[in-house]
Amino acid sequence: MDRLSLASGFDPDSLIVETLNDFRVSGRVYTDQEIFRLEMKHIFGRCWIYLGHESEIPNPGDYKTAYIGLRPVIVTRDENGVVHAMLNRCRHRGSVICRAHTGNEKRFQCQYHGWVYGLNGDLLGIAKHKGGYPDDFDKASYGLMAVPRVTVYRGMVFANMDPDAIDFLEYLGAAKPFLDIHLDRSPSGEIDVTFGAHRTEYRGNWKFQAENSTDGYHGDTVHESFFKLVAEFGNKGGQHGSYTQGSVDDIFKHRLNGRTLGFENGHGVWESPLTADALDNMRAGPYRDYVDWMEATYGTFRTHEMLNAMNLVIFPSLAILHGQFRVMRPIAVDRTEVSIQFFKLKGASDAYNNFRMSGYQRFFGPASFGSPDDVEIFAVNQTGLQAEEVEWLLLSRGMGRETTDNMKVRTAEITDETSQRAFHRGWKRFMSF
Ligand code: FES
Ligand SMILES: [Fe+2]
Repeated sequence: MDRLSLASGFDPDSLIVETLNDFRVSGRVYTDQEIFRLEMKHIFGRCWIYLGHESEIPNPGDYKTAYIGLRPVIVTRDENGVVHAMLNRCRHRGSVICRAHTGNEKRFQCQYHGWVYGLNGDLLGIAKHKGGYPDDFDKASYGLMAVPRVTVYRGMVFANMDPDAIDFLEYLGAAKPFLDIHLDRSPSGEIDVTFGAHRTEYRGNWKFQAENSTDGYHGDTVHESFFKLVAEFGNKGGQHGSYTQGSVDDIFKHRLNGRTLGFENGHGVWESPLTADALDNMRAGPYRDYVDWMEATYGTFRTHEMLNAMNLVIFPSLAILHGQFRVMRPIAVDRTEVSIQFFKLKGASDAYNNFRMSGYQRFFGPASFGSPDDVEIFAVNQTGLQAEEVEWLLLSRGMGRETTDNMKVRTAEITDETSQRAFHRGWKRFMSF
């Protein structure tokens, strides 16, 4: 594909600028229609995009719809149990053939003129065919277009529009152990994504949610009211009994522990350790069986590590945090849908899964103390960037204390903008070829 500078007059090197202690991103990256259009091609046309989880479509005929950038996609399980991902676009005149989020069908009929497709995308029938389209119309050539690459990792379905893309695990690179931690918290190693989704839309660029999901710098300001409540009433649905009442200052002090990590290809992690007494609190509570299982399986040290609060962003549009998948769907340069799905740890007790869910509902749900504040910020962020005379956003925090290991993983303190820089390095790389 053309280099951006040739295609549009924009040069990625002039939009993301990095020197030793200075990392800045042009506001146009969030506001320019042409850059948005190119993102749909260079980022969402090249990267591995999360479409859903196998547990959402367990039976033959089950389907869910999703998006790869702007492209509508349908994910099905056919009569033989095989998972397919296809573009949700009728081969006649382009209507989506399936409008529901999820369901079960034997076949799909386009609502415009009635063409019928099988669960594997084959074109099965053309309405009122006789004398219309020629009798020898080659139906075999007009099935739904398959997404060129589909891979299932531990039940998670990822797809890629680029037939020549590197394999998913190579793309994930050194971030893989962090994805595994989220899944290994399950006693069976499996998760269930069976609660459906809640969806929220904001008037801002899709990258705000991607950056924010590993941002350790904003919590004490944006979510100050939440931490005041925790200080007053304790935290019974969050981090396993940590923050059991006390002072906001103590909570903020603890929140300075932890780290942010930045990976190749744009992935990032934010990790906040448990408080010192959290595991003991949990052992003394109703979920002791879960801690016992984890300690017997992984040992005490690793148990602490696995129960840390840890948010992972898989570039460009999937965040995994606190037992939820959060998918960013770009709709326009200034409009984004976030789809959030809580998942259960298969094999853990209902009581423990409900406890996890109450923590999710309290901070991340539609009427919670966390997520609504974040999406409000994304909208005012977009408004601020309309002052285009000011060119740069600054993402330099912690550059001077960042370390890089032999896997090219960068690490710095928890309030540092390490993962956001990794995101934009990934962005620049994919936008540059
Ligand atoms: S657009 Fe689908 S049948 Fe015409
Ligand atoms: Fe937040």
